[in-house]
Amino acid sequence: MCGIVGYVGNKNAQDFLVSGLKRLEYRGYDSAGIVTVSKNGEATLIRAKGKIVNLEEKIAKEKKDDKIGIGHTRWATHGEPSEANAHPHQAGSIYLVHNGIIENYKDLKETLKDFKFESDTDSEVLAALIDSFYDNGKHPLVNAVVQALKLVKGTYGIAVISKNNPEEIIVARAGSPLVIGVGKDETFLASDASALVGHTKRAIYLNDGEVARLTKDSIEIKTLNAEPVSAKVEEIETNLAAIQKGGYDHFLLKEIMEQPESLVETLRGRINAETGVVKLGGPGLTDTELRKIKHLIIVGCGTAYHAGLLAGYYIEQFTPEITIETVIASEYRYRQAYIPEDSIALIVSQSGETADTLACLREIKKQGVKTIGIVNAIGSTIAREVDGGTYVHVGPEISVASTKAFTSQVIAMVMFGITIAQAKGVRAGALKPYVDEIVKMPEEIRAVLNEVNDSMKTVAGNYKKYEHAIYLGRGTAYPTAMEGALKLKEVSYIDANAYAFGELKHGPLALVDDRFFEMVLLPEGELYEKAVSNVQEVLARGGHVVIITNSDEFDLEVENVVKITTSLKLFAPILMNLVSQLFAYYMTVAKGYNVDQPRNLAKSVTVE
Ligand code: M6R
Repeated sequence: MCGIVGYVGNKNAQDFLVSGLKRLEYRGYDSAGIVTVSKNGEATLIRAKGKIVNLEEKIAKEKKDDKIGIGHTRWATHGEPSEANAHPHQAGSIYLVHNGIIENYKDLKETLKDFKFESDTDSEVLAALIDSFYDNGKHPLVNAVVQALKLVKGTYGIAVISKNNPEEIIVARAGSPLVIGVGKDETFLASDASALVGHTKRAIYLNDGEVARLTKDSIEIKTLNAEPVSAKVEEIETNLAAIQKGGYDHFLLKEIMEQPESLVETLRGRINAETGVVKLGGPGLTDTELRKIKHLIIVGCGTAYHAGLLAGYYIEQFTPEITIETVIASEYRYRQAYIPEDSIALIVSQSGETADTLACLREIKKQGVKTIGIVNAIGSTIAREVDGGTYVHVGPEISVASTKAFTSQVIAMVMFGITIAQAKGVRAGALKPYVDEIVKMPEEIRAVLNEVNDSMKTVAGNYKKYEHAIYLGRGTAYPTAMEGALKLKEVSYIDANAYAFGELKHGPLALVDDRFFEMVLLPEGELYEKAVSNVQEVLARGGHVVIITNSDEFDLEVENVVKITTSLKLFAPILMNLVSQLFAYYMTVAKGYNVDQPRNLAKSVTVE
């Protein structure tokens, strides 16, 4: 979604702002803009609809050597994508960039009768409000910002500069992340630490309710109630290689291919291959607390939700006396759901910033239930607000479609489940098959990726002409099929839906015709024969079937069989998901769509 960058120092601000915005491109946006101010108070505001390259073309005609500025990528919420609606917004002598939503903007607008609004955005209302308190420099800018924010209902991460004092940037946050980069004689700002990589390793993550005044050599942070805050400087762990394509054509393929390594990072120091013991420090639960757990709520959106569903299928296999409920965050936050005693909530999010997931976390905490984060982005809001957590450590995921995070989220949750089972006294022998397969999984992933990568290009090409797909699976293959369908639809725009195979006869079988193809996940195991019968039902109705299987037994005549070779039995569906990921990738390449930034989507959904 929207991105913010800012710079004050001795270097060219335009250069940093553009490079920073490019780093945030992956979050999704439809217009972009920057403003810089010269020493003598001349502002250069440049905005463009569409991609950053359009903005760059305009900047090339108005090159400046200003040393302070702010920039923004906008993902439209109020008002269509257009130059007028792009940020920064100007009001008098101030300029503002804003992430989030000002819910009471209509009421506030009513109070600003004299201001001539030029956009349809809620953000411009905030700029005008700040300007009204600033009164052309009669009051310190930071005070004007605080006064305005006290009237605001909604979410924001903002940065404000004024032509009157081109030495300071005022920033504030409530619900939309901001990271301040601490440099030598320069201070950076971004809504995502990836924009700071290569410029500084030292970062301060602003908290909700805080406002900061940044100059090139000082950072003063206070709460909106003027209480001073002593900021904690943290290290940015990401390196440049992690946010570059590294020889791949697209981040999506890079991220699919790096799963052997990213899963190793998830497992590092947490699982003992010899003893089979799993130890997670982050959740901070004692054995007594783990033993007491009777109910798990797993909360997430999109891929994180699917990871929770799949992990739930596994955890209930080996953990006694436990019920598991995996919920969609945007639904759960408005339900009147009863949470039984002795529950623990797993809050699953790659970005750690998803608005609905964050809202659930806060609701669940209010009910006194302990929350454990299964998060990737270090220092993100969810990671900071949960009671404990297990980072999945897969490194930055840049492509909008989530891939490596899914695999590691599932395994991190399964490992958490194993710690519960261990504490509840489940024999090591019963857990060993799971532990053994998890330990082997990175190499099994590598082998399967090598085995199927080339052939998936061809298989995807065969189905390019279809507009509809049905993904099918039973047991653990069912949530995996759901994830496969999501991957295909979000990047290739093929209408794909997943069904539990047993549900087919209850409705979806009516769909089978020449407009559809059916992608079947068929792992060996106790449900194999039943699933094969289901395949026959589809074939009998003229289905166009692709089978992904680890079985040597499959002998029905279908259009394509993607055979994976693996010693994994329990977790074979996770390997089948790699096939679905590659299928979605090659389908999108074949169709010539934007692989890493599918239309209408954002990487991190920070608004409801
Ligand atoms: O950052 P999160 O894991 O909280 O994001 C949740 C979903 O927005 C995300 O998984 C989304 O569904 C992806 N585009 C799926 O590939």
